[in-house]
Amino acid sequence: MYNIKAMLEAVPVKRLAHTMGVRDTSLRLAKRHFPFLENDEVEAAAILHDITKYLTREEHLRLCEDWNITLNDDEKRSTRVLHQITGAESAKRSFGVSDAVFSAIRCHTTGKANMSPLELLLMFADYIEPNRHYEGCEEIRDYYEVLFAAGDSYSLEKAVIKALGMTINEVVERGEFMNPDIINARNSLILKTNANKERSLL
Ligand SMILES: [Fe+2]
Ligand SMILES: [Fe+2]
Repeated sequence: MYNIKAMLEAVPVKRLAHTMGVRDTSLRLAKRHFPFLENDEVEAAAILHDITKYLTREEHLRLCEDWNITLNDDEKRSTRVLHQITGAESAKRSFGVSDAVFSAIRCHTTGKANMSPLELLLMFADYIEPNRHYEGCEEIRDYYEVLFAAGDSYSLEKAVIKALGMTINEVVERGEFMNPDIINARNSLILKTNANKERSLL
């Protein structure tokens, strides 16, 4: 059992509303899609996922050096990517989270190939929690709910594919570097959801 109260105290105040939104959304989605997950695990991942969100790039890099985390060039490029790395390590060091919680926090922004239920859950809850208002957010929420209501067994995966597609388009439009894990995550979900269909490989 985790000390959820202590975890909540570690959340930056200006990240609290978003964090509680991710927590509530994760618990709701877990009940629907992954009832075998323990609430404690879902809550810990949600509450701690952004605990290092407001550190500067230099602070992230210093922490990684202190903690002997070797970063590759792709990881060093982006503060968004760095916050998932230091967030996961901080959650482990401060609260002794499980490997499953660690890895969900570790990839919540970029995703990765072959995501676990908790990884997928946290990533999607982070995209659609009620305090999110980015362009396209409502469209993703609706798309997911329609698929789920229709009994699509891949509603969650398909909605994450759509959300990742939006992120990829934005990164391209802004002319920014694309972390390859984003592409790996999307490709892997496409193969998973097409598993029973005839596939064309480009
Ligand atoms: Fe985050
Ligand atoms: Fe977040």
